[in-house]
Amino acid sequence: MKYFNLDRKIARLILLQRNELTSPSLKKIRKLFGRYIFTNFFTKFMISPKSFSFKYYELMLKEYDFLIKHINFDNKKILSIGAGMCGLEIIINSKSINNYFTIIEKDYVSKKVAYGWDSKNKEAYNSIDLLNFFLINNGMKKENFEIYNFDKDKFPITKYEYIISLYSLDYHYDFFNYFEYFKKVTDENTKIIFDTIRPDYFKKIFKNVEVISSEIKSIHSSKRIICNKLID
Ligand SMILES: C[S@@+](CC[C@H](N)C(=O)[O-])C[C@H]1O[C@@H](n2cnc3c(N)ncnc32)[C@H](O)[C@@H]1O
Repeated sequence: MKYFNLDRKIARLILLQRNELTSPSLKKIRKLFGRYIFTNFFTKFMISPKSFSFKYYELMLKEYDFLIKHINFDNKKILSIGAGMCGLEIIINSKSINNYFTIIEKDYVSKKVAYGWDSKNKEAYNSIDLLNFFLINNGMKKENFEIYNFDKDKFPITKYEYIISLYSLDYHYDFFNYFEYFKKVTDENTKIIFDTIRPDYFKKIFKNVEVISSEIKSIHSSKRIICNKLID
């Protein structure tokens, strides 16, 4: 598979989740008309699902190829926080054996997507129904995943080997939204991977913090870190 099956509604959500997939012409439109009209009108009609399905696959494969240098996904229970349309999880599932994914996401699209730091954690760009459909439609088996709504559901209490949150936790909203939950679902072997602009800060929270990438030159001026062992 070198692309994902997706339709226009799903392509729109992916565009909102992954800013770098915005074409130069759409960027111009966003500048000209502002984020509100861009989010609620242009993203609904001015995207090509076909080209998106290739571009999003390529981007998620790049994320996978990078992560696989640092972690082994075989036989792992993975908690995915703010996973967007889960292209990465689909690729992990297709390239490794015996995974189970718990996905926590939001179930609405903000009226005006700003992409900055969101201290109230009100911004969201997903639909849990469409996410469920996308996962099944791209080969993920129902028995390999579960999805929880951040705003409504009680999250499962079980131990995870990996917690992955790309460009979501501590990138758009504070790590501490999940801190108490992490105390319940991690042990000393759990690795937590996320993007942040304050990696040194996490040396006070975890015994081990490893910076695995810096993206100073790209649109994401953050660092990707792998943390493990919460300090009591
Ligand atoms: C910038 S997107 C990144 C999506 C995906 N991780 C990727 O790399 O393509 C951030 C995602 O976090 C979700 N989100 C926002 N607040 C959240 C929360 N408190 N818990 C889980 N997901 C959240 C948004 O709905 C959105 O899908």
